[in-house]
Amino acid sequence: MLIVQFTDTHVLEDGKRVYGRFDSHAMLERAIDAILALEPKPDLALLTGDMVDRGSAEEYARIKKPLDRLDIPLAIIPGNHDARDTLHAAFGKTAIMGEGEFLHWVRDDLGPLRIIGLDTHVPGKVNGELCEKRLAWLEAALATAPDRPTLIATHHPPFTTAITHVEAWPFAGAEAFEKIVAKNKQIVRIVSGHLHRQMLAPFGGTIASVCPSTAHQFALDWRKKAPAMWTDEAPGFQLHLWDGAKLITSTRAVGPFEAVAL
Ligand SMILES: [Fe+2]
Ligand SMILES: [Fe+2]
Repeated sequence: MLIVQFTDTHVLEDGKRVYGRFDSHAMLERAIDAILALEPKPDLALLTGDMVDRGSAEEYARIKKPLDRLDIPLAIIPGNHDARDTLHAAFGKTAIMGEGEFLHWVRDDLGPLRIIGLDTHVPGKVNGELCEKRLAWLEAALATAPDRPTLIATHHPPFTTAITHVEAWPFAGAEAFEKIVAKNKQIVRIVSGHLHRQMLAPFGGTIASVCPSTAHQFALDWRKKAPAMWTDEAPGFQLHLWDGAKLITSTRAVGPFEAVAL
């Protein structure tokens, strides 16, 4: 089973660029071109939030066209830049998505991996949260198939990053989440976005991993009190291959690149 994860597409209304610089819409079109050229074809496209920049209906209408080019199922969870109602109104009927207060979902029918989309969004806040209600939902979802290899997708990564400006917005409920993960050995990976660069760390006995953005990348700066900076580093997405026993992940930069024969 092959999953292509892409994230933080941050599409804006026509004519606008992120920070006046990054043409996130054109960058998404290039990422979709690269995804469509993949062989073998992935079984699922997993979009882990911040799909638009301001959460407006105009932005969701604009991102629809590039996403409609995908010829595989699309699953979505919201990020801090999304707006649940507007997102659900635009994609609730066509994408794999939850409904109600939180846009969680769990799917057993996409392949051998069971996939859980967890909604960590808090309206008006940058940070992620798993409150008691959401943790209870997760525990119940995990309990229905405790022996099935499971991948959990969240927008916000649950681990601390040692990046000053990221840690100004700590993930609420991360400790309780980690305890649940540690108890559920069937969880093979937690995949997230939000950081706009590839990163991974251990979490509850599994690996928590972050996919780069298809748009702008965060500059990595581990100096104390370093300011938030963006870079022109190559955008990308990740491929997660379940080989029957383990999940193998590779980060793929979005080109165009030239292939050179050996
Ligand atoms: Fe983002
Ligand atoms: Fe985010």
